[in-house]
Amino acid sequence: MCGIVGYVGPAMPSNRPLEVAMEGLARMEYRGYDSAGVALVAPMGLVSAKKAGKLANLRGVLEASPLPEATVAIGHTRWATHGGPTDANAHPHLSEDGKLAVIHNGIIENFAPLRAELAAAGVTFTSETDTEVVAHLLAREYNAARDLTQAMLTVTRRLEGAYTLLAIHADAPGSVVGARRNSPLVIGLGDGENFLGSDVAAFISHTKDALEMGQDQVVTITADDVRVVDADGNPAEGRRFTVDWDADAAVKGGYATFMDKEIHDQPKAVADTLLGRTDTAGNLVLDELRIDETILRSVDKIIVVACGTAAYAGHVAKYAIEHWCRIPVEVELAHEFRYRDPVVSEKTLVVAISQSGETMDTIMAVRHAREQGAKVLAIVNTHGSTIPRESDAVLYTHAGPEVAVASTKAFLAQITACYLLGLYLAQLRGNKYPDEVAGYLEELAALPAKIQHILDNEEEVRAVARAMKDATSVLFLGRHVGYPVALEGALKLKELAYIHAEGFAAGELKHGPIALIEDGQPVFFIVPTPRRPLLHSKVVSNIQEVRARGAKTLVIAEEGDEAVTPYADVIFRVPRTPTLMMPLVTVVPLQIFAAELAGAKGYDVDQPRNLAKSVTVE
Ligand code: M6R
Repeated sequence: MCGIVGYVGPAMPSNRPLEVAMEGLARMEYRGYDSAGVALVAPMGLVSAKKAGKLANLRGVLEASPLPEATVAIGHTRWATHGGPTDANAHPHLSEDGKLAVIHNGIIENFAPLRAELAAAGVTFTSETDTEVVAHLLAREYNAARDLTQAMLTVTRRLEGAYTLLAIHADAPGSVVGARRNSPLVIGLGDGENFLGSDVAAFISHTKDALEMGQDQVVTITADDVRVVDADGNPAEGRRFTVDWDADAAVKGGYATFMDKEIHDQPKAVADTLLGRTDTAGNLVLDELRIDETILRSVDKIIVVACGTAAYAGHVAKYAIEHWCRIPVEVELAHEFRYRDPVVSEKTLVVAISQSGETMDTIMAVRHAREQGAKVLAIVNTHGSTIPRESDAVLYTHAGPEVAVASTKAFLAQITACYLLGLYLAQLRGNKYPDEVAGYLEELAALPAKIQHILDNEEEVRAVARAMKDATSVLFLGRHVGYPVALEGALKLKELAYIHAEGFAAGELKHGPIALIEDGQPVFFIVPTPRRPLLHSKVVSNIQEVRARGAKTLVIAEEGDEAVTPYADVIFRVPRTPTLMMPLVTVVPLQIFAAELAGAKGYDVDQPRNLAKSVTVE
């Protein structure tokens, strides 16, 4: 959700605080783009600017009315929760005397009584946000204690909900104070300057040295010092880490959109996720899995918890892990998990999949699983994020930063990591012989080149997408691992092109969805390899069934699969790939199709309406 950046530099005022804040916001705009704002402490006092709409609007404001040189800055890019995306509701929010500014990510659940209390005390509110109550509460505490850290500690004790807060005060020109509960905040360690950010993207071009913050901690940064305390004000330790990607990884690199770039990053994302996973004897080793082998051997059920695209990766994993390990796998949308009284024991392995590592629904599922005694293994892309910290073990995907709101390379990396997990368990539990595991790893290693082959021929998909820009509804059908791919294809089209799109298991067609078929209805089919004849023939029959009713069939099929040719209006070919690994290739044309069609409609492919990259509220 919202993106937050904080900066403290040398005592001599300069333009750097504003530059750092604006650059950080540009890198984090994917987290929310309803409005943006900054506040600085300058020699003349606290100054701020904010504007509804994308960051470009704030830039326009700053060009028309430049802000003075300063020593500290905070910046915010918003995904609206309380109050619409207006100038007044944009952050920062100021105290009544205009000396204190605060920015916030999350939701203050008890803001209504706090607001009523402040209003009764005579405070005038200028926005509809939950955040503004924090500005007024902090100002009162600061005026009493003259200590911003102490004020933050006192105020956060009164807040319920999830939040990251940053505050600055005109009378404290050398510090920014931050706090977090159930919402991300990372510290960037510089030389004579320090940073705060919702994620490392906020400061990646200035430092790669970072410090994770724990739950309910408060941090005070100055130019030369970083002080973290717990909720009682006692000194606390953070975990230091080095960011393993460059600022260059989070730029478009010559592509028109981040999504385009990230689609093209996919061969590398898969290859990097596979890198260094075998020992000298060729055995699969997952060093990061800190769960005792005895426990992993005794696992009798796996539950995958995740949301959106990550959940579809889990759905693909189910087919592979059950087949390789003979362990039952359930896939549960994380936001449904804890509300249905799931059957979880100490023999259950819960696998939490998340690109951001900050999805609140998934975090809550992780907590619930651990409370029930399960071990939790996180498959996450973002170092320093909450989910790995709250899990028993983590298997990092190495997709690099994913900026576009629509997930692409993270999806492929998540599937790859799930395959590694499945093979590791199969090896550990003796379901597969070492040479079998080695064979699967070889097949996986061949995948990046196959994905690249599809990308080299992408224009074919793009041309079809452009020609279909006026479609109002598109269906996606698949069986077996093609089913989650169908769901993912539909999700991509919905979120990017705002077109009604549905994914179905192809076998379900005759149980209802076939009623949707009318003349010209576009239907994508994800066709399994003909080397699984039974499965393949069923899908070919489904293609015939919808074609007979007037549908336009767009078929994703393996090279050399001629059985589909008579029934396909359009065929997108993918290289020959083992059945279980087909999602890594069959989803790629669907990603390209959705991105191109959305672009042809003139939509913002990287920042689709109403969405944000990481969903840090439940
Ligand atoms: O960061 P996460 O992987 O936990 O995010 C989960 C979903 O919010 C995410 O995959 C979402 O569905 C994407 N916008 C899909 O493109």
